[in-house]
Amino acid sequence: MQNTYKHSTISNLMLFKQAEHASVFVAQEIANLILSKQAQGEFAVLGLATGNTPKGVYRELIRLHREENLSFGNVVSFNLDEYYPIEPDNDQSYFYFMREHLFKHIDMKPDNIHIPHATCGADSISQFCKDFEDKIASFGGLDLQLLGIGRNGHIGFNEPGSSFDSKTRLVNLHDVTRADAEADFGSLEQVPQQAISVGVQTISQAKKILLLALGERKSKIMNKVFNGEITREAPASILQSLPQVQYILDHEAAKRMQP
Ligand code: F6R
Repeated sequence: MQNTYKHSTISNLMLFKQAEHASVFVAQEIANLILSKQAQGEFAVLGLATGNTPKGVYRELIRLHREENLSFGNVVSFNLDEYYPIEPDNDQSYFYFMREHLFKHIDMKPDNIHIPHATCGADSISQFCKDFEDKIASFGGLDLQLLGIGRNGHIGFNEPGSSFDSKTRLVNLHDVTRADAEADFGSLEQVPQQAISVGVQTISQAKKILLLALGERKSKIMNKVFNGEITREAPASILQSLPQVQYILDHEAAKRMQP
């Protein structure tokens, strides 16, 4: 591909000159999985992310649906996380994000969409989280997990200090995460203190993991989690130990990567 250049020695790192081409590559990987599962008469079980990073991926998936007849009829999805508490119709909720950026444009069956939007009280959250994990397991686990990365190395909302054995649970949001969300919510006070997030273990058990990082603001953390030590202080660093991980970066996100 003309706009791609791949690291010569590290086969699980793909670098693209432009963010758009990285996003198209990721969308094509997802489409290929959906099509191969369709051919086998099986579900494609996707782990999905929100935020700025996957917007281009979702745009391309919508294009493939509209222009190339890609059907999502066999797709089951599980989102990584959701603020807690938040109402699903709040325009800062990840439920709202997914509807606007993907679900309302494609033919997924509503029953196949799973987002950890617990509207339950605090006393029922652990049961909600267990049910979420059980539901993933009932589909045989995630076939493909799409990840962005936080500037503090979080994946999902597994903040620094998260256990590598963690499963879906209620978490406290890190200061960096809340500061990054401040502009969207209008003020820091309005950013929720907590969220529900699938765990590091849940993510690690996906059969394929695509970590997409775009832009200069991700370059420092990408170098740290790709080349640095594996540490709970940067949860994404655990991905180094997993054979099924592929890193997809644009030029800007890769600019501090040491060879
Ligand atoms: C979102 C999620 C987060 C984001 C990360 C990067 O569902 O799980 O880990 O992927 O915070 O966010 P953006 O893409 O907005 O830079």
